[in-house]
Parts: sequence; structure tokens; C-alpha cells
Amino acid sequence: MTNYQLSRRGLLSGVLGVTVASGLAGCGFRQSPEAVAMEMIEAREAALRASGGVKSFRLKADFAEIDLGGTIAKTWAYGNILPGKIIRVNKGDRVRVQFENELPVPTSVHWHGLAIRNDMDGVPGVTTPEVQTGKNFNFEFITPDAGTYWFHPHSGTQLDRGLYAPFIVDDPNEPTTYDREWILILDDWTDGVGKNPDQILAELKKSGAGTDMGGMHMGGMDMEGMDTGDVVYPMYLINGRPNNDPETFAAKPGERIRLRIINAAADTIFRVALSQHLMSVTHTDGFPVMPSKVSLLQVGMGERYDVVVTLKDGVFPLVARAVGKSQIARALIRTASGQVPSSSFQPQELTASPLRAETLQATDSVRLPSKKPDRIQDLILTGSMNPYIWKINGRVYEQTKALTIKQNEIGRLRLRNMSMMPHPIHLHGHTFQLGKAGGSGARKDTVLLQAMGSIDVDYVATNPGKWMIHCHNAYHAEAGMMTRLEYIT
Ligand code: C2O
Ligand code: CU
Repeated sequence: MTNYQLSRRGLLSGVLGVTVASGLAGCGFRQSPEAVAMEMIEAREAALRASGGVKSFRLKADFAEIDLGGTIAKTWAYGNILPGKIIRVNKGDRVRVQFENELPVPTSVHWHGLAIRNDMDGVPGVTTPEVQTGKNFNFEFITPDAGTYWFHPHSGTQLDRGLYAPFIVDDPNEPTTYDREWILILDDWTDGVGKNPDQILAELKKSGAGTDMGGMHMGGMDMEGMDTGDVVYPMYLINGRPNNDPETFAAKPGERIRLRIINAAADTIFRVALSQHLMSVTHTDGFPVMPSKVSLLQVGMGERYDVVVTLKDGVFPLVARAVGKSQIARALIRTASGQVPSSSFQPQELTASPLRAETLQATDSVRLPSKKPDRIQDLILTGSMNPYIWKINGRVYEQTKALTIKQNEIGRLRLRNMSMMPHPIHLHGHTFQLGKAGGSGARKDTVLLQAMGSIDVDYVATNPGKWMIHCHNAYHAEAGMMTRLEYIT
């Protein structure tokens, strides 16, 4: 059953809820807009009908000391490990997460990419209360779709510390076949080693990147013909390990491995290659695509790619190169004895032209219904390094005018990047289709817009509430590049 069919039932009960509310209003009993909205959210959740079990987890944000290849970084993390412990459930499970905040500041947990109920989305001030120091919050939601997801705070620059972990939703009828599965989380690292994220943001805002550079650099075009990020990091990590201390994965030659690649960086686009192998891309942002063989992936912040590789005989570095920053992170895959290539080794696959998400095709099962959009809205991205201000539709977040949509409509967002920086644009609570609904484009929740690039995406409005749309560069988001999509009745 497709996601769309599930959601349509949610819609029917949602409409019913609203009808009852206005009927009562006629008798002098008026429901507040908040109550109507909550009724719609509850109706949608009820329509998802938890099919699996109940899965309970505990999650704590706390101080941590992380060993980064011999350098101890004092930071904040989910437990004393990096990345945090995985949350893994089945599609349709009811998930309970008892969250505890031991950080010195308020925080939040956002479940990136999961189209869960709006009031559990973890955006302080918009959906879910911020969790104060020493306090708890109990999350509870049904997971509607299988796939590779992750979670992180939605408070200030906290994402650029150690607060991230994978969230995997398994499909009990998984059609992709493989022998093993490994998760690779990419990150750019500074906290406890270089400046902390709050210092970086303050300096970016104070000086732009034009003057006092200290750790920052101008987002100019680099040799890859692409803009760089705004921050130079002391380290780049895969699964919390820097280049000099890579994780080693062992397997047998000929085995088929599913790699789930998640970019949890705050300011770094990665190009990812496995030396001497082609990768067959099977999913992006959790949703299946027609398998497509590539040498090189390009993964924006917040994006995920699942690939299947058939392993050769030997030792193979899987390298993630920080675009425009000339440093790499790596992991090793070993299927036989042999020499490990030096830590500066860059596989020749890194010189290939990277996969562009626009060339992927959705599988039939996840295409949106073919229908003309009911609403077409522009998302114009502008901004500059100096002054360090990033805007959507000419406004920073504090002044934003939310986009609107009605339940069951098809919305089209015309994403137009009028700036010289790339921006990974993320929509909460929905998985849009690149191009048009019913077309061949991939389903995604985060799409990387190149400098001056543009793309249209369509989504079906079946998850009522208020949803963030923003750039997943943590510094751009904090410097204004966020807005909301709000359901109206
Ligand atoms: Cu990954 Cu608004 O978040
Ligand atoms: Cu951006």
C-alpha cells in the first residue's frame, strides 16, 4: 500500500473532524483554531492505524567526551558516544521516546524526514515545547514510511555539536536484497577541538566572511565548479571517526552490502565514493528509486542515500570528500588481507561527475498521484556572506510570511536559488516529488540547490499542521533562511 492511500483515509476523518467542529459552532459552542488543528492531527494519526508493535526508547542529551582519533573533544551528545545510539523500528510501529535534557540549555529533538504527527515534530515555538534543562519530554508517534532517517535538535546551532543519530524504519516486506547493511554518518567537526558553533555563528554575523576570517572563509567557487561551505572545520568524520582512525567494516568478497549514508554535517556537502566499486543507488531520503549505478554521490546536509555494492576482493577506502574544503573522511571495507592505502589516498572515482538527484526516478509505488497543483508557491533564496544574512522570499525567519495549503491539495514549491551558495532545502512532515506529482522524479525531503539553481517540487498535503521549510546549512538557517508551511481550513 502506498503512503498516499494511507494518507487519504486520514484526510477523510480530518474533514469529518472539522465539519463536527463548525456544526457545534452554530449552537454557540466555538472550538478554538488550535483545537480544530489538534483534531485534524489526531484524525490523521488514527488513520495511520499502528500496524506493528509499540517500541520504547530512552534518549538523553548530555555532556560528553568523545575520542576523535586520540583528541578528546568535550561536547554535547546523545549519550557518551558519537553518533548517538540508533533508533530502529518497523514501519507502522508506535514509537515512544522518553527524552531527558541534561544540557545546560533548552533543547529539542526533530525526527528528520519522518512524516509523523505535527505536534511531535520537535520544533520549539512551532510544534513541540522546548525541553528545559533537567526536564523530560515523552514523544509518541506512528512511523508511516520505511527508510533511512535521523534525528537532531532544532534549537540554534546545536546540530553542529555531537547531537545526532540514525533513525531506521524497516519495511517488513523489504524488496531490496542484500547480505549486510552498514550505516555511514558523515559530519564536519569543530566543537571541543576548534571554536564552538555559537562562536562561529557570532563571528559570521559580526564580520561576514569578508574581514576577520579566523576559521571561516569566503564561499567562493572552488575547483569542482561549486560553492564551498562557510566554515573550515578541523575534522571531518564518518561514524564519529576522523581520517586517522577510520572504522573498518569486514565482509566477504562477493557479498552485497546496503550502505545507508546520512549527511549530518552543519555546513559541508560531501562527495562519496567507494574505491574501485560502482554503487547502485536504491533509495534517497528513505524512499525507493529505480536502481541507478554511479561512481560518485553528492550528499547535501540532511540528505540520505542508500546504495547497494557488490564487494570485490581486498581493502577499499570509502571516502567522503568535503566539497570545497579539500579534506576527507573515510571508512575502510575489508574483504581480504592487504595493505591499507594511506590516509590521504583519494580514489579515482572522486573525479567522476557526481550523481544529481534530479536524474533519479521514483519507483511506481511511491509516485504521487498525477494531478495539477492546486497551489503554486515560490521559494526565492537570497543572501550573502557579508553581511551574513540569508532569506526566503526576501525575509528572514523572524519576519517570514508562512506559505499556506489546504488538506488534500497538491502544492508546488518553485525553489529558486538566487545566491552564489548551494542550499539543501528541507521540508518537514512531507516527502515531495522532484519535478511534478505523478512524474518520474524521486521522492525526497531535502533537495540540494546549486548556486543559482532551481527546481520545482510537488507534495500532497495529507499531514496537517505547521511545518518548517529551511536550508539545512545550520548557519544559514540561523541567519534567517527558514520559513513555514501552514495548513489552513
Ligand atoms: Cu533536519 Cu528542520 O531539520
Ligand atoms: Cu543555505
